[in-house]
Parts: sequence; structure tokens; C-alpha cells
Amino acid sequence: MINVGIIGTGNISRMHIQGYAAFAHRCKITALVDVYPEKIQGCKKDFPFLSDVKVYTSHTDMLNDKAVDMVSICTPPFTHAAIAIDCLNAGKNVLLEKPMAASLAECDAIIAAAGKSGRVFSCIAQNRFRDPITNLKRVLDSGKIGKVVHAQIDSHWWRGRSYYDLWWRGTWEKEGGGCTLNHAVHHIDMLGWMLGLPVEVSAIISNAAHDNAEVEDISIAVMRYGESDRTAKGALAQVTSSVIHHGEEQQLIFQGEKARISAPWKVAASIAQPNGFPAESALSAPFIAELDALYASFPPLPYSGHTGQIDDMLDAIEKNSAPLIGGEDGRRTIELISSIYKAGAEGRAVSLPLQPDDPFYTADGIRKNVPRFYQKEAVIQNLSGVITVGSNFQ
Ligand SMILES: NC(=O)c1ccc[n+]([C@@H]2O[C@H](COP(=O)([O-])OP(=O)(O)OC[C@H]3O[C@@H](n4cnc5c(N)ncnc54)[C@H](O)[C@@H]3O)[C@@H](O)[C@H]2O)c1
Repeated sequence: MINVGIIGTGNISRMHIQGYAAFAHRCKITALVDVYPEKIQGCKKDFPFLSDVKVYTSHTDMLNDKAVDMVSICTPPFTHAAIAIDCLNAGKNVLLEKPMAASLAECDAIIAAAGKSGRVFSCIAQNRFRDPITNLKRVLDSGKIGKVVHAQIDSHWWRGRSYYDLWWRGTWEKEGGGCTLNHAVHHIDMLGWMLGLPVEVSAIISNAAHDNAEVEDISIAVMRYGESDRTAKGALAQVTSSVIHHGEEQQLIFQGEKARISAPWKVAASIAQPNGFPAESALSAPFIAELDALYASFPPLPYSGHTGQIDDMLDAIEKNSAPLIGGEDGRRTIELISSIYKAGAEGRAVSLPLQPDDPFYTADGIRKNVPRFYQKEAVIQNLSGVITVGSNFQ
């Protein structure tokens, strides 16, 4: 039985608690931690089965609690690195909410602490545990569409002005960035998982609709890939990160040499006539049917979203194996995001990888070099209303 502490009992902690509850024969929540006791009480009210668990108002008070084997860290981004490192150093296994941290320096410190402790570390990227995403990756891995020549990543979200009134949102210091770091982190993780790192990134970052936030509410990046088993020489990816898109139409589209595939799933394939123009579509139909059949052949995942990732994390602890999403995965996502911020702030193309002497390697360096679009206005402790966590790609 794995005993679990939940650090941060706000919005997203609910997904973690529901996830652990699905595996009551393997784990048990034994501690709740939040700097605001009323948040813990709200959590206990929502989940009566937690009414007797121990509570702490600081994660440091929980570190010596032998009845906690692993923690879910569900606190704001600026706290992630310090809390994760403290917990790893205290011998806890750590499941850390996204974004892994606000900078590569912090990611490297977490990875070092995880290595030293020998405990399992995993960073949340729950969309990898959704059938349309897993199956898209499997079709890419089959090699049937040939090398990827273009990727279109639409991380389209919509948030109203009041979203940035919550105390930790809307500043470079506490939220660590805007929609690129906090929303597109999901899609940028999937891009990195499917194609790896590009060699060059160009970007524009802007704020078009939230005049109460320092951070960007839209960024558009173009990435150039080097030649690899997965990507053709000269392949490009375009990544739109946004919280100003009504309807939140989110998608990942990959153009391969032989076909186009996407999440939500859709296939197209063109075959050339002698003059290079596309031949009539009937000629492509058998290949499209083959890709559709491959996609349909994969068995559905037993658990999806956070529950799927919690199952994977428990497995890793029980079997002493690596989780699907480790520190290097979280780091790769932060490297892409930091390079979008650097390219946007400096107005020029950026080569990857980013080096430790780069100002954009540290959170302090990022803060000193990015534009502050507007001043944060309100500082509210609690916002009411339900939250949504993006597309299910169906
Ligand atoms: N995976 C997803 O889809 C998803 C969705 C939403 C939020 N998140 C991430 O989850 C994290 C939390 O977001 P949220 O929306 O739940 O925020 P929230 O404000 O609703 O909850 C955060 C909680 O952490 C507490 N807290 C703050 N500092 C703390 C500290 N030092 N120690 C203990 N508790 C502390 C706050 O009091 C609050 O109750 C963020 O990193 C966010 O990016 C992930």
C-alpha cells in the first residue's frame, strides 16, 4: 500500500484525489497540505473519505511523516521546484503538476535531486494518457506516413479577464509565464514526445486581450527540425499558444511524406499525377483505409487523463521502473517554452539546445528579459466556478 500526501488542495488536486481513489487497493491518501487551512477543509467537504487524514499548513512539516511515501504536488508553478526537491530529499516519490518548473535551471535541480534520492519522479502530462493521443503516437511510430514534413499544433484555449485575478496568476514571478508555459505546456509536451526537439525556434509573444496580466496571452512560434528518423530535412512545426481563442479548438496535425494524420483523428493522403498535381482521391483510398484500420486496431487505454498517469506512477513505484513521463520529458517541454520566450523577447531565431550560461536558462534571467505587457490588478485568494482541462481530442 502506497501512502500519498496531496500538497496544494485547490482546483487540480481534485483530479489527483479522484485518480488515487480509483486504486484504493494500491494506495491511500494519508495527508493533505495547503497554506490556507480553509482550502483543506473545502477538500475534506468534497471528499468525505478524507475527513480523518492528517493536515499540514506547510509541506516542510510533512517531510518527516513516515506515513507518506509519495506526494502529488498541486501548487502554483513558482513553488514547484523547491517543494519537489524538498520531498525528493526527504525520500518521497514525487508526482509534480505541470509545468515542471519555471526554468531549465530548476528542472535540472529537480532531476539531480531525483537521481540522488533514487525515488520516482514524474511530471504531469495527462493528455498522453488519452486514446487519440496515444494512438496518434503509435501511428507515427509505425513509420507508415513517412518522415514528418510539417506539424501544426493549435493550443487554443479561452480564458476571461478575471482568470488573471487569482493571486498567483498573471505575473512572471509567480505563474512563471502566460499561456505558452501554463496552457500550451500540454501540447508542447506532445510535440516533443512525438518529434523531439527542433534545432531552431522563432516566435512572437503578445498580449491582445488581458490588460490585467504581465504575461502573454498569445504566442506564435515556428520551429525548424533537423533531419532524423522522424523528421525530414527542413521540416517545420508551427505552435500557437493562446487563451484568446473562443471554442478552444485544439489539435495536432502532422503532415508526413505520404499522409496527413491528426488528433482529433483524421487522415488524408495525396498521390501525384505525372504533372505533380494530386491524383483523384480514389487512388489514395486503400492507403487511407490502411491507416484508419491501424488506428482502430489499438486497444483502448484502461484509464485516461490524470487517472492514467497515476496508474503509471504507482506502477513505477511498485515495480521499481521508470514512469512514462520523467524529468527529462518535463525538461524538454520547458526547453521549448524557454526558447519561445527567448525568441519572442529578443526578436530573433534561437538555436537549441539552450546553454546554462544563457539568460533564459534561469527563472531570474527570463524575468529580467521578457516584456511585461500590463500590470496585474486584482489579487484574489479564491475564484469560484468549475474548471476545464482542455480537449479530449475525440
Ligand atoms: N494538468 C492540468 O490540466 C492542470 C489544470 C489546472 C492547473 N494545473 C496546474 O496545477 C497547479 C495548481 O493549479 P490550480 O488551478 O489547482 O491552482 P489553485 O490555486 O486552485 O490551487 C493551488 C493550491 O495550492 C496552495 N498553495 C500555494 N502555495 C502553496 C505552498 N507553498 N504549499 C502548500 N500549498 C500551497 C494554494 O493555497 C491552493 O489551494 C498549477 O501548477 C497549474 O498549472 C494543471
